[in-house]
Amino acid sequence: MEKKYKIVTYGCQMNVHESEKMAGALRRLGYEETTDDEEADLILFNTCCIRENAENHAFGNIGALKKLKKRKPSLIIAVGGCMTQEKGKTELLKKKFPFIDVMFGTLNLEELETLIKRKLDGQKRVISVREKEGEIVEGAEPFRTSYPNAWVNITYGCDNFCSYCIVPYVRGRERSRRPEHIIAEVERLVKEGYKEITLLGQNVNSYGRGVDSSFAELLDKVASVEGNFRVRFMTSHPKDFTEDVVKVMQKHKKIMRLIHLPVQSGSNAVLAAMNRRYTREKYLAEIEMLRRYFPEAEVTTDIIVGFPGETEEDYLLTEDLVKRVDFASAFTFVYSKREGTKAATMEGQLPEEVQKDRIMRLVELVNSLTRKKSEKYLGKTVEILCEDYDEKKGLYLGRDEFGRMGYFKSDENEIGNFINLKITKANGISLFGEKV
Ligand code: 5AD
Ligand code: SF4
Repeated sequence: MEKKYKIVTYGCQMNVHESEKMAGALRRLGYEETTDDEEADLILFNTCCIRENAENHAFGNIGALKKLKKRKPSLIIAVGGCMTQEKGKTELLKKKFPFIDVMFGTLNLEELETLIKRKLDGQKRVISVREKEGEIVEGAEPFRTSYPNAWVNITYGCDNFCSYCIVPYVRGRERSRRPEHIIAEVERLVKEGYKEITLLGQNVNSYGRGVDSSFAELLDKVASVEGNFRVRFMTSHPKDFTEDVVKVMQKHKKIMRLIHLPVQSGSNAVLAAMNRRYTREKYLAEIEMLRRYFPEAEVTTDIIVGFPGETEEDYLLTEDLVKRVDFASAFTFVYSKREGTKAATMEGQLPEEVQKDRIMRLVELVNSLTRKKSEKYLGKTVEILCEDYDEKKGLYLGRDEFGRMGYFKSDENEIGNFINLKITKANGISLFGEKV
C-alpha cells in the first residue's frame, strides 16, 4: 500500500509555494497526498510566525495530534517553516510536543528529503535548523497544486527590517535567483500549460543583487516568453517601486494591471517608526504615476493598525489614504508584538480595545470601497482566467487582469481557460456573470 502525507500550511504565498516544494520532496520518497489525518503516515506542518495568532493556530493543531500519535506510533509528525526558524521556538516545540519526529527551518527546506529518510532509517528524533542562509539550491521539482497558477521565487529572504516584522530574522538575508534559472522555469511552466505565473519575493523591486539584472529587466524577459499566459508579481515595496517597472508593464499585455503595494500606514510618523523609508506623499505619487499609465490599474495593499504610538490622528490619516487610493482590496491587520523586533521594545504599546476599534472601522471602510467598485462592473464584459470550482456555490471562478474575482456556471471543466464573462450581478466583493 502507498504511504500517504498531509501538509498543513499557515501564512503567505511564499509558504504555500514552499509547501509545494515539501510535497515534491515527499513524493520523491514515495508518498502520495491525503487530506485525512487518519489515513496519513506523515503529517507535516509548514508554520508561520508573522503574527501571534498564526503561531497559536499551529500550536493548537500540533497539540491536537497527540492522541492520534499515541494510537498510531508509526505516524511521522514533522514541523517546518518560519516558526521553527524563530529563536528559541524549536526548543519550546521540542519540550511542549515530545511526539514531534522531524523539525527543520525555512533555511534548510531542501534537506527535508534527507531528514525524513533519517527518520525512516530509525533515528528517533531528527532536528536540523540551519542558523544562516546558504547558497540558493536549484533543481528540486515542486509538486504544484495551484494550476493554472504557478508560483516562481525570484528572491529569498529580506533585508528591510521593518521595525514590526520578524521575516528578516527567520528568512535570512535577501538573495536573488539567477535570471536564467527563472526564465528556464517560466518557459517550462508555460510549455506544461500553466496560464498565470506569479513572481515571488519579499520585495521584488530590489531583485538583482549579485546577479546583474534589475527587476524591470527580469520582468521584461519573463513577459517576453512565448505563449498564452499572464504574469503577476508580489510583493512590491513602495520605497523601491519605480517607473521602469510600469514601463515594462505597458510594453506587455501579459502583465496584469494589478499591483500589491503594502502601505502599512497613512501617517508619516508611524511610517518612520515602522522604518518603511517612504512617506505618504511618496506613496500617493507612485499611485498617481501608475494611474497615468493605466487609469484603471488596481492596487491592493496591507495595512497594520494599532502600531505602538499610533494616535487617533495617525489612524485617521490611514483612513484618508485608503479613500484617496481607492484600493481594490486590503489585507488589514492588528499590530502583533514579535519578540526580537525593534517595535517590541517601543513605548506606547496600545491597549487591545483601541486596536480592535480601529481594525473594525478600517475593515468597514475597505469593504465599502470594494462594494462600490464591484457595482461599476455591472453590465461589463471582462476576460477572466478560470482558476477553480466552488463546490458550495456550484460555480466556476476566476480573475480578470485587474485581479477581480468573477463566478459563473458551466457544464464543462473550465479550469485553465480564459473566458469572457458578462457581469450580471455584484454581491459585495463577488461578481457573478454569464459566459459569452
Ligand atoms: N503585526 C501585524 N501585522 C504584521 N505584518 C507583518 N508583521 C506584522 C506584525 N508584527 C503584516 C504586514 C505585512 C503582511 C504580510 O503582514 O502588513 O505586509
Ligand atoms: Fe510568510 Fe512571513 Fe509567515 Fe514566513 S512569517 S510564512 S514569510 S508571512
